[in-house]
Amino acid sequence: MLEQEKMNAEVISVFPNKVRISVDDLEDFQIAEEKLKVGSYLRIADNDNAVLIAIIENFTIEVGTTPEGVPRRKYILEANPLGLIRNGKFERGGDTIAIPPKKVEPARQEEIEKIFTESLEDGKKFTFAKLSTNPTIDVPVDGDKFFNKHIAIIGSTGSGKSHSVAKIIQNAISSKEGEYKGLNNSHIVIFDIHSEYKTAFPAANFIDISNLVLPYWLLNSDELQELFIDTEANDHNQRNVFKEAVINSRINHFDGEEEKKNRIHFDSPLYFDIDDVLTYARTKNSEVIDTGEVYASGEKKGQPKTTQGSLHGKLTNFVSRLENRINDKRLDFLVGEKSKKISFEETLKQLIGYGESTSNITIIDLSGVPFEVLSITVSLISRILFEYGYYYKRLRYEANPDEKINNDVPILLVYEEAHKYVPNSDLAKYRASKQSIERIAKEGRKYGVSLLLASQRPSEISETIFSQCNNFLALRLTNPNDQNYVKRLLPDTLGNLVDKMPSLKAGECLLIGEAVVLPSIVLMDRCNPGPSSNDIPYFQLWKESWKDLDIVAIKEAWGKN
Ligand SMILES: Nc1ncnc2c1ncn2[C@@H]1O[C@H](COP(=O)(O)OP(=O)(O)O)[C@@H](O)[C@H]1O
Ligand SMILES: [Mg+2]
Repeated sequence: MLEQEKMNAEVISVFPNKVRISVDDLEDFQIAEEKLKVGSYLRIADNDNAVLIAIIENFTIEVGTTPEGVPRRKYILEANPLGLIRNGKFERGGDTIAIPPKKVEPARQEEIEKIFTESLEDGKKFTFAKLSTNPTIDVPVDGDKFFNKHIAIIGSTGSGKSHSVAKIIQNAISSKEGEYKGLNNSHIVIFDIHSEYKTAFPAANFIDISNLVLPYWLLNSDELQELFIDTEANDHNQRNVFKEAVINSRINHFDGEEEKKNRIHFDSPLYFDIDDVLTYARTKNSEVIDTGEVYASGEKKGQPKTTQGSLHGKLTNFVSRLENRINDKRLDFLVGEKSKKISFEETLKQLIGYGESTSNITIIDLSGVPFEVLSITVSLISRILFEYGYYYKRLRYEANPDEKINNDVPILLVYEEAHKYVPNSDLAKYRASKQSIERIAKEGRKYGVSLLLASQRPSEISETIFSQCNNFLALRLTNPNDQNYVKRLLPDTLGNLVDKMPSLKAGECLLIGEAVVLPSIVLMDRCNPGPSSNDIPYFQLWKESWKDLDIVAIKEAWGKN
């Protein structure tokens, strides 16, 4: 080897996705600014003036002896190569360095800072976190790539998911290009299953079961059947009668061109009256048909002979299910009078913040939605929002065939506890929401509709959806199944960093993905105000003196559902 000085640290192996380094004296190896940790960066130089930046993935200690027989310890660091600095510029990935590497040392703060600052144009920088090993360094992501590709935020309960979601959105709505007053053009819809987000976004358009109005007649045929038919019974009569009735009612209420009327089908997004369907089912269930003959003798002599219709008495269960659904007060938001009257335009307006008072954020508090209709509710809203993107793009291209931007009002859909809507399960009760969200995962990007999924059980999320996520915030995750699952799906060769996940602090996460300059372990900036998901200070509360409780008020709140 050439000018090798006596080295404290040396690279002992180089693989495409791993560098192994042996260090004699860790104290000498560290730099003043920072204690080395998993997640710290190393710089490895070669003779061609290229510098490889790598992130420490693990440490081991080897106990051995010197050639003279004196016991000694060696530290072995394994690090993942992230990219090269060549001629002062950092490139992700790229070739590895020329072998043999010349020198390895911890990367200097200025060097890392420079990578973060210079790798992205200022206008693209979107920042919500600091480097965990060095909290003076901001870690920006490419804001366009971040929101344009789907995002997954995963971590055990209490790891900081809700706070992270809130922080990202708070920064998004306050980012502005230039100086103007009023709202920016961000559009975010949050599916809030635990009623957490109202406190984090006091100015949001807030929708809950008391003011949500969804038109049942926009449900697709599968969802309609799930709502109004006992699908488990697999009864052809019910299905046929239901389908006939829906189509007939759509046709009867349609006042457009004849040619369009002839094309109306079960899935047409047109109004129908659910009461028409009930009337039709009742009629079929009690139908009596005149045979055209008369009784020749006996008591009924001379009276017309009748026979029961083919469905007579066979639809009793169906009729009573329909009645139950229509009269169920809890389903008023979906099948009540307002649902009959609301137009498509009004529905869309309320969902994307274009109502009476405009808003960047729409929070849809799902906590009051009965569990048996949660999936179709989420599905319906998601589909309406997807179709919005789809048709808006079409309109834009019709107006200007050279249009470059598919959607100049792009939206982000945020699903808290995503495993509840898009689980890795084929059960019928999840089918609706899963289908709608999977479609957005696969195609939404083209239409300006992207997803942010938060979950404490990533291994229970549909793989189709999860594998479409390009940017990950992986917070503390303790369940080994979930860790392995995440390891498998992470896009970079950083699987082993996942081993760090059980030991992360609240708000600390692995930030990985296409929008990221350098995969990093970061600490999320605190959001302000926070979601109402803070840990309850049990012990502090218990130490206070006995509190009165308004049990009547609790009962009344309960009764409202
Ligand atoms: N960036 C952060 N820094 C410090 N503490 C945080 C941070 N983010 C969250 N926490 C704390 O962690 C706890 C859990 O946060 P939360 O967002 O509710 O977690 P999750 O949604 O994953 O259950 C909260 O008490 C919160 O104050
Ligand atoms: Mg949470």
